Parts: sequence; structure tokens; C-alpha cells
Amino acid sequence: MGFPPISSLSFILFLFHFHSTISSSHFCAPHQSLSLLQFKESFSINSSASVRCQHPKTESWKEGTDCCLWDGVTCDMKTGQVTGLDLACSMLYGTLHSNSTLFSLHHLQKLDLSDNDFNSSHISSRFGQFSNMILLNLNFSVFTGQVPSEISHLSKLVSLDLSRNYYPSLEPISFDKIVRNLTNLRELDLSWVNISLVVPSSLTNLSSSFSSLSLSRCGLQGKFPGNIFLLPNLESLDLSYNEGLIGSFPSSNLSNVLFHLGLSNTRISVYLENDLISTLKSLEYLSLRNSNIIKSDLSLLDNLTQLTFLDLSSNNFSGQIPSSLGSLINLSYLNLSNNQLVGPIHSQLNIFSNLKYIYLSNNLFNGTIPSFLFALPSLQYLDLHNNNLISNISELQHNSLRYLDLSNNHLHGSIPSSIFKQENLTTLILASNSKLTGEISSSICKLRFLRVLDLSNNSLNGSTPLCLGNFGNMLSVLHLGMNKLQGTIPSTFSKDNILEYLNLNGNELEGKIPLSIINCTMLEVIDLGNNKIEDTFPYFLETLPQLQILVLKSNKLQGFVKGSTAYNSFSKLRIFDISHNNFSGPLPIRYFNSLEAMMTSDHNMVYMMEKNYTGYVYSIEMTWKGVEIEFTKIQSTIRVLDLSNNNFTGEIPKVIGKLKALQQLNLSHNYLAGHIQSSLGNLTNLESLDLSSNLLTGRIPTQLGDLTFLAILNLSHNQLEGPIPSGEQFNTFDASSFEGNLGLFGSQVLKKCYSDEAPSLPPSSFDEGDDSTLFGEGFGWKAVTMGYGCGFVFGVATGYVVLRTKKPSWFFRMVEDKWNLQSKKTKKNAGRYGARRN
Ligand SMILES: *[C@@H]1O[C@H](CO)[C@@H](O)[C@H](O)[C@H]1NC(C)=O
Ligand SMILES: *[C@@H]1O[C@H](CO)[C@@H](O)[C@H](O)[C@H]1NC(C)=O
Ligand SMILES: *[C@@H]1O[C@H](CO)[C@@H](O)[C@H](O)[C@H]1NC(C)=O
Ligand SMILES: *[C@@H]1O[C@H](CO)[C@@H](O)[C@H](O)[C@H]1NC(C)=O
Ligand SMILES: *[C@@H]1O[C@H](CO)[C@@H](O)[C@H](O)[C@H]1NC(C)=O
Ligand SMILES: *[C@@H]1O[C@H](CO)[C@@H](O)[C@H](O)[C@H]1NC(C)=O
Ligand SMILES: *[C@@H]1O[C@H](CO)[C@@H](O)[C@H](O)[C@H]1NC(C)=O
Ligand SMILES: *[C@@H]1O[C@H](CO)[C@@H](O)[C@H](O)[C@H]1NC(C)=O
Ligand SMILES: *[C@@H]1O[C@H](CO)[C@@H](O)[C@H](O)[C@H]1NC(C)=O
Ligand SMILES: *[C@@H]1O[C@H](CO)[C@@H](O)[C@H](O)[C@H]1NC(C)=O
Ligand SMILES: *[C@@H]1O[C@H](CO)[C@@H](O)[C@H](O)[C@H]1NC(C)=O
Ligand SMILES: *[C@@H]1O[C@H](CO)[C@@H](O)[C@H](O)[C@H]1NC(C)=O
Repeated sequence: MGFPPISSLSFILFLFHFHSTISSSHFCAPHQSLSLLQFKESFSINSSASVRCQHPKTESWKEGTDCCLWDGVTCDMKTGQVTGLDLACSMLYGTLHSNSTLFSLHHLQKLDLSDNDFNSSHISSRFGQFSNMILLNLNFSVFTGQVPSEISHLSKLVSLDLSRNYYPSLEPISFDKIVRNLTNLRELDLSWVNISLVVPSSLTNLSSSFSSLSLSRCGLQGKFPGNIFLLPNLESLDLSYNEGLIGSFPSSNLSNVLFHLGLSNTRISVYLENDLISTLKSLEYLSLRNSNIIKSDLSLLDNLTQLTFLDLSSNNFSGQIPSSLGSLINLSYLNLSNNQLVGPIHSQLNIFSNLKYIYLSNNLFNGTIPSFLFALPSLQYLDLHNNNLISNISELQHNSLRYLDLSNNHLHGSIPSSIFKQENLTTLILASNSKLTGEISSSICKLRFLRVLDLSNNSLNGSTPLCLGNFGNMLSVLHLGMNKLQGTIPSTFSKDNILEYLNLNGNELEGKIPLSIINCTMLEVIDLGNNKIEDTFPYFLETLPQLQILVLKSNKLQGFVKGSTAYNSFSKLRIFDISHNNFSGPLPIRYFNSLEAMMTSDHNMVYMMEKNYTGYVYSIEMTWKGVEIEFTKIQSTIRVLDLSNNNFTGEIPKVIGKLKALQQLNLSHNYLAGHIQSSLGNLTNLESLDLSSNLLTGRIPTQLGDLTFLAILNLSHNQLEGPIPSGEQFNTFDASSFEGNLGLFGSQVLKKCYSDEAPSLPPSSFDEGDDSTLFGEGFGWKAVTMGYGCGFVFGVATGYVVLRTKKPSWFFRMVEDKWNLQSKKTKKNAGRYGARRN
């Protein structure tokens, strides 16, 4: 085939301009081909680099063909120089070194390497050499380190996106140069880049033609310059998750092309009033989660008819959802969770035919769950948890639902069979304070895409469907705790399963712990507490490589716990609770030598245990500082060893001092004899130590005085004698910590126990302690039974300073929540409080 004449060639060039599919074999200069091929060779194609990306563009790159025809490559039509490289989402994996042949493509004007995995490469200073660069996108590609100041040499740059990498940082001086020197810049996305040292006022110098600025999760603090809000061409502004950012959002003179506004989790004040709403008419995306909204009137929003995304969660909106919101006909995402909205859920929402996501959790909605919700044609995600709604879910006709959370409402009756027809369901949460009854049908296993199944806190009875052990290979969370399930634990766990969380706590399960659990090699959490399991210690669980939490409390387990039959036994275990069983013999010394996660604390790696892709937060039940609590959020740093209320005999071994990261140690109510080991003084993270009701003799080692975080100490009912060590920490404990011993003396035993009063309504004021350092923001829990009384002195650690409050503030918050959320005590667990905070 010959070449067409020049005039028609340029016509074809015009036609195929964006695809660079011109068929001319000599177009691409050979040295460019070579550079590109070498670049290709320096990476592997790795499908685990991104789940979404399935098309490795570099696969079409073949030696001997015209590189201008390669996927993702654009050339200058006249010169044949490579001017554009779009390798977004190309499954590249490997390090991008400074000597990469990429940097010899001097004519590049557009470079998009987003959504690959560059394995924590540093961003090379050689990026600064692309003097023709107009667009640079390194979004979401696992870069880290310091962003080189040479980026500011790209003086033609119009669009720069370094966002969503592995928290690279950008020095204030480099930031200033970018803002001042890149005068053509219109779009800047530095989300997740650490610019915490940058003074926000340096943004004042952005050019007036600026159109898009994204600085979310940048650690930005201080006052945001008001003039940026007023840039005349501003289309998109996102400052979300800069908790220290203050300022005020203007009500007028805003750009009339602004379509994206995100101020979530900032302290920038927003007056939601007529003036503002009438200037925001083009808005399509509005995110004001946990914001500083001064005037909260939802009905004002009805004029924002272009909105497709609206997030007003975690604010103080109250009253009913105004029916006028029905005018937001384009909405696809609606999040009003964590407010104080009341009343029925309006049928006006019915006309939101585009709604795909509805989040209305943690409000005070009442009435029935309206059936129209289940008929919304686009709906895929529905979260109504924590309201006062009455279920009527039998009418569930929908069949493209992916996510359904109706927990903590007034559900009753049996699980409607219509749920089993939701074949695309990946998350099903019907946990409740009121009660679903009946059996769990094995039809549940028809939901083969299910990842999260939580039917906890109901009155479900009958046996656990056997198929739950081996249905599909998607299920990673199985929570059937707090029901009335009988029979045995399914013994059918098969090899290819990916179960990470298994909670059957608080049922009436009997029999043994099935050996097939070792097939669940991804398990992180096993909670089988509060059942009637009759077995010996399940040594086979030792080999589960990811196991972090093991709760077997309150069963009928018996025999010796010898410990460590395998290499690396329980090496990741952080919470080990086998209390309230009939275990006997010596303490499991060999485990004390292998519980490596309890030997090292990792305070710099704090995260909530959750399923990242679903946001499902793990919960377990545990005794924390004397109070039995259902932790609805478990932080990665918590370390607990609870062997109490068994028949352990012998001495406390010295090696227990190795478990330096422990925050809570409970060996009480056993038959332990001998002295208290001075090595306990090595457990410097301890906040709670309970050795009460044993046969311990001798003196209290003075080393215990070194435990500066210790808030709870109980040595009562032993045979201890001698002086109680003095020291600031010990002076905070009263007589109840030491009573019932042979001959202890010290100022503490003279002190009277302060109060026998049962917990009552919260006082109007109390010391503000905060356990959020332990439990994270929005610490969530359920108190189960109150072990509160004279026996324990509560102290609350705040950032490693022990406040000597008599009662912890979270205790009062709990009581408050109980009243605010009007949760009810249930028959089954009298004294159980149902306050769940998320
Ligand atoms: C794929 O990438 C992951 C990390 O994302 C890495 O652990 C793995 O070794 C890579 N596999 C190959 C074949 O490069
Ligand atoms: C990824 O980074 C790790 C740690 O720096 C290194 O050991 C490994 O070789 C790198 N892999 C590739 C493919 O570059
Ligand atoms: C580029 O640099 C890296 C690290 O310095 C080195 O391992 C690699 O061999 C170099 N590649 C070339 C082609 O020089
Ligand atoms: C950057 O990545 C995020 C998340 O993958 C994506 O939503 C956004 O569109 C990307 N931005 C650009 C400019 O590619
Ligand atoms: C600013 O941009 C000019 C080109 O416009 C460039 O020569 C100079 O090096 C840049 N200065 C800094 C400090 O980056
Ligand atoms: C909403 O639109 C109506 C009709 O266009 C108008 O009368 C009203 O003032 C608008 N409200 C706001 C807050 O802009
Ligand atoms: C909803 O709660 C309000 C009080 O907050 C009450 O007046 C109303 O009757 C309740 N509606 C239903 C259907 O329970
Ligand atoms: C479930 O999802 C699959 C793929 O996402 C789709 O092909 C199928 O039609 C869906 N089924 C229903 C009933 O929506
Ligand atoms: C593990 O699963 C396989 C089937 O995948 C089964 O044959 C085997 O018995 C199971 N292992 C145990 C210990 O039950
Ligand atoms: C989940 O998120 C935490 C941080 O929030 C992270 O450390 C962990 O690696 C993530 N897990 C997965 C499987 O992505
Ligand atoms: C625990 O030990 C005590 C004293 O040795 C004994 O009386 C009791 O029967 C034991 N309990 C169990 C359940 O083994
Ligand atoms: C306790 O710490 C001391 C000093 O740091 C050390 O000599 C001793 O071996 C430790 N004991 C244990 C049981 O770890």
C-alpha cells in the first residue's frame, strides 16, 4: 500500500490525531524506540499492582514496529518525536530509577504514569528536565520520599498531579517555587503529599487563571487564604481532611463555574445560607462531612439541582429530611449519616431514580423502612444502621444490591427469603439490638459474592449452616455472635477460603473446635467466647500465620496449656483471652517465649482493624480495665493477655517480662503461688495489672513502681506482705487494690474506698479524660457488664500521661450514649448497653 499525498495525509493525521494510529513505519526515531523498550524492560507486569487495571499497554510495544503506533505513545506529527506517554493503569511494577531511559525522551509534553506500582521509588529530580512538559501525572503509583524542588523547573506545566502516593513530602521552599514559578499552572493535585510545614498563605500567589486545586490529606494547618476561594475560574477545590485548616468560606463572589467543592474534616466555616446557595448553582459535588457548618438548614440545598454527590455526614443537621430535597434529581450519592435527623424517611426520596448510594446511618429516623427504597432502580448501597426504624424488609424486590446494612434498628421476624435472591450482595449486615428470630437458612450460601456476613446480636437459633464453611471463596467476615445458635461449629472449612474474621461469641455452641479451621490461613480474628465448647486447648490454631486475636473465654475448655508445639507459634497474636475456663497446670511458659507481637509495640503504625475494601470494622468482646466491653473498633496497638479465672497453678514465670508491649495482663482467680516476679517491672506499657485471688506470697517488688501508665492494679486476696512500694503511681491506688492480704502496709491501705455507688446518671461535669489514643477517633464499644465498684481504680491514659480521674470519661460517655440513643437493655443480657458509636 502506497502513501497518500501530503494533503490527504494531514487530513488523516487530523482524523487520528488522538490515537496516533498513523501507519508510517519510519516515523519514530530509532533511539526513541530503544528508550521506550528499555523503559518497558525495566518493569514487570504485575496484576497485583492494581485490581482495576487489566490492560498492560506496554504489551503492544514490539521491536521493529513504529513506536508512534504503540499503545499509550503519542508523537509529534511533523518531527516524529515522542511527545506524549500515557501509561495510566498499565500494571507496571518496579523501581523508577534516575538512570531510566524515560528521561531521554526530552520532547515529552504529557506524561501520565498514574495507577501503577513503582514500589516506593523516589520521584527523580530528572523529572525537572522535561522542559516542554505541560502535563505530569504521577497519581496513585506508590512513589515516596521527598518531592524534588526541580519540579518547579517545568515552567510550561499546566497540570501537575502527585496525589495518592505513599505520603511523599514537599518542602515549603519547593512548594513556594511551584506556586510562584509555574505561572501556567491551572491544575494542582497534591492530595496525600505531606506539606504540613507549608504556610497556607503561600498559596496566595496562585495565578488568577487557576481552575483546580486538590490538597486533601496534606497535613495543611493554619488559615487558608480567602482569595483562593474567589479565583474567578475555579472549577474544583478540595481541601478535605486537613483537620488543622481554618478560615471562612465566602458567601458571595464565588466562581460561577465551581462544580466540585470538598471541605470535609476541615475547620473552615461555611455559612449555608441563601447567598451561598444561589452562587453555587453549578455544583455537582459537595462534600462537607464533619465540617464547620454554621447554619444547618437542609432545605436550602434544594436549588442545587446539578448535584450528583452530596456528603453532609457527621454534622449537626436536625429535623426531618425536607421533602424539597426531592428536587435533587441527579443525585447518585447521598450521605446524611451521623446527624440528628428524625422522622420517617420520606417517600420524596423516591424520585431519586439515579441514587446508587444511600447512607442514612446514625440518625434518629423512625417509622418503617420504606419499601420504595428497595425499588430504586439504581440503588446498590443502602446503609440505615443505628436508627429507630422498624423493618419491613420482606418486600425487598431489588436484585442488584451490593451492600445492605440495617443493623441496630428494630428488626424482627425471620430473615426474609427475598434477601437470598440478592445475588450480587457482597455485604449483608443485619446485626441488631432487637431481634431477628428463626434459623439461618442454608439458602444464605446462594449469595456467592458475599464478603461480609454479620447477623450478630439477634435471636437466631438452630444450627449454623454447614455450607458457611465452604461456600464460595469470597467470604472474609463471618459474624454470627450474640445469637442462640446451637449445635457444633461447622467443621467444613475448606482450603481455598479467605476468611479473616470469625466471630461466634455468645451462642450456645457445644462440641469441639473443628480442626478444619486451620484451612482458614488468612484468619486474623477468632472469637469463640461465651459458648459451651468442651475441648482441650486448640494447639492447631498456633500455625495460623495471620492470627492476631484469639478469644476463647467462658467456655468449658480444660487440661494443660503447654504452649508452642510449632515454630513461630502465635507470633502475631496481640489479644489472647482464654479466661473463665477450666485450664489447669502451669502457665503456658513456652507461649510467653513466642508471642512476638506482645514483645514489641508499634505505636507508629496505628490503624483500625477493618476490611479496607468494605469499611467493615472488626469488633470483639473483651474485658478492658475491669469492664466487659464489646470493642466495635480494635486498634492495631492493643495488646492483652488474659488467663484469669482458670485453675492455673505454679509460679508466675520470669519470662513474662519479655512481653513488653502488653497493656493489660490478667492472671487473677487462679492458684498461682510464689513471689510476684520483679520482671513484671519490665512491662512498661501496662495500663492494667490484675493478679488478685491467687496464692501469691512475699513482697510487692519495688520495680512495679516503674509502671508509669498503670491505671488499674489489683493485688487483692493473696498472701502478700511487707511494705507497699511508694511512688507517684502507687499513691493513686487505694486500699481495695491491696485488701485481703496477710500483711501489707502503707498509706494506701489506710485510705477508704471512695465509693460503693453504682454507676448512675452522668454528672453534669466530669474530668475530661480521653481514651481516643487507645481506641482512635470515634472509639466505639459496647459495655456489657459493669465490673465497676470499689475494687478498681480507673485511670485513663491520655497520650501517655496518666490522669488520675476517678472514673474514666468514656464511662460517662457510655452512660450518656445509652440515654441519647435510647438503647434498651435486652432480656438475654441484662445490663448490656447497646450504644454503638461509629
Ligand atoms: C507484584 O507486586 C507485589 C506488590 O505489589 C509484589 O509483592 C510481588 O512480588 C510482585 N510480583 C511480581 C511477579 O513482580
Ligand atoms: C521493591 O522494593 C523492595 C524494597 O526496597 C526491594 O527489595 C525490591 O527489590 C523492589 N522490587 C523491585 C521489582 O524493584
Ligand atoms: C540504574 O540504577 C540502578 C540503581 O542505581 C541500578 O541498579 C541499575 O543497574 C541501573 N541501570 C542501568 C541501565 O544503568
Ligand atoms: C487520580 O487517582 C484517583 C484515584 O485513583 C482518581 O479518582 C483520579 O481521577 C485520578 N486523577 C487523575 C488526574 O488521573
Ligand atoms: C523558574 O522558571 C524559569 C523559566 O521560566 C526557569 O528558568 C527557572 O529556573 C525557574 N526558577 C526556579 C527557582 O525554579
Ligand atoms: C431557589 O430557587 C427559587 C426559584 O428559582 C428561588 O425563588 C429561591 O430564591 C432560590 N433559593 C435559593 C436559596 O437560592
Ligand atoms: C417518630 O418519633 C417522633 C418523636 O421523635 C414521634 O412523635 C413519632 O410518633 C414517631 N413516629 C413513629 C412512626 O414512630
Ligand atoms: C450481578 O452482577 C453481574 C456482574 O456485575 C451482572 O452481570 C448481573 O446481571 C447482576 N445480576 C443482577 C440480578 O443484577
Ligand atoms: C481442608 O480442606 C480440604 C478441602 O479443601 C479438606 O479435604 C481437608 O480435610 C480440610 N482440612 C481439615 C484439617 O479439615
Ligand atoms: C488496610 O489498611 C491499613 C491501614 O489503614 C494498612 O496498613 C493495611 O495494609 C491495609 N490492608 C490491605 C489488605 O490493604
Ligand atoms: C480447680 O482446682 C481446685 C483446687 O485444686 C479444685 O477444687 C477444682 O475442682 C478445680 N476445678 C476444675 C474445674 O478443675
Ligand atoms: C528486664 O529488664 C532488665 C533490664 O532492662 C533485663 O536485664 C532483664 O533481663 C529483663 N527481664 C526480662 C524477663 O525480660
